[in-house]
Amino acid sequence: MSTPASKKTLCLRNTAAIGLIGSILLFSLYFKAPPPVCPPRFSQEEYRQVKHPHEKPIVLIWLWPFGVTFDFKACSTYFNIDSCVLTDNRSLYSKAEGVIFFHKDIKWHFQNMPQDPRPAFQKWIWFHVESPTNTPTPPDLDNLFNLTLSYRRDSDITVRNELTIRKTELKENIVLLKKDKLVCWIVSNKDPRTGTALRERYYRELSKHIEIHMFGGAYGGHILSSDEYYSTIANCKFYLSFENSIHRDYITEKVNGPLVAGTVPVVLGPPRENYEQFLPADAFIHINDFPDAKSLADFMLDMNDEAYGRYFEWKKFFTATPHLLSLKNEFIHPFCLACDHISRDKDFHVVQDLYEWYFREQN
Ligand SMILES: *[C@@H]1O[C@H](CO)[C@@H](O)[C@H](O)[C@H]1NC(C)=O
Ligand SMILES: *[C@@H]1O[C@H](CO)[C@@H](O)[C@H](O)[C@H]1NC(C)=O
Repeated sequence: MSTPASKKTLCLRNTAAIGLIGSILLFSLYFKAPPPVCPPRFSQEEYRQVKHPHEKPIVLIWLWPFGVTFDFKACSTYFNIDSCVLTDNRSLYSKAEGVIFFHKDIKWHFQNMPQDPRPAFQKWIWFHVESPTNTPTPPDLDNLFNLTLSYRRDSDITVRNELTIRKTELKENIVLLKKDKLVCWIVSNKDPRTGTALRERYYRELSKHIEIHMFGGAYGGHILSSDEYYSTIANCKFYLSFENSIHRDYITEKVNGPLVAGTVPVVLGPPRENYEQFLPADAFIHINDFPDAKSLADFMLDMNDEAYGRYFEWKKFFTATPHLLSLKNEFIHPFCLACDHISRDKDFHVVQDLYEWYFREQN
């Protein structure tokens, strides 16, 4: 059996021999040399590409969101993604196939955007996870990016906490945890400029009819550490998954928390139909299912164990995955998804009307 190295030598000798004979014949008999028997010679760089066609693409994080960094190993640790080289080293700009820009960091007039020309193969990724209400709008972002990375289902790269389908249906009965509280809410923000007025009104009204255990800074509740988050929610029968502002697809980790913890989310956000695009209809209670807050409070107060248990039927077929807590970890997931996307997507894209798309509430 010949090794690749010996094959190559043989091949080169043949070429030399044919070349020599060929050139003699060419001069004397106008003989056309036969087509080369060996593959064409490669430059070092081309040879490397042929030998390693699956070399990982480079994805460059242009700025760390809020300056918070994380270890790139997290992508393989948490999400089993290892298909690109994530880096924040700007000297690699000209080689990067993807460059991620965190929307909130983009300065007016692009002062902090790359000044060097963009290589033809490079894709700029617009990364934003806030709702439209909380979106600053620096001008001239049309025809600048190639891919969108956001919670919206119609983004190029969608970042959400999705339920996963079980390989086999769970046969055992779902064991419901003992709960020592009826309704809880963890809330750290009540700044009306962020769109919270509606949920604030609803909370005030609801709290007249049922006791709500408050955590987080907004209404003077106990501020939880990351370690306390899931166990606190697990102790409550119902959890208020109230979004700060109401927008299509803006259904956040506030719903994922109770689903993971084994608690029923009571949602305030986009219409029920929108939730049902992401979650089984019987996995949550929507405030719009009731004419007013009092009816919702009565419904929760009167619910028997059997009716309560039915909210967990979905667990037989699907699983909820805990989301990473804390600001430090919040950006790991989107960066890893961008890495994975860039390693697979070899197509040309242009995001033409970024804001027109992002602020449009209908499909
Ligand atoms: C950034 O990349 C360049 C080019 O590969 C390398 O020379 C330099 O050491 C890197 N810098 C850091 C901080 O890793
Ligand atoms: C990326 O988008 C820009 C304009 O937004 C375009 O000029 C460029 O050709 C696109 N590149 C790729 C690889 O899609």
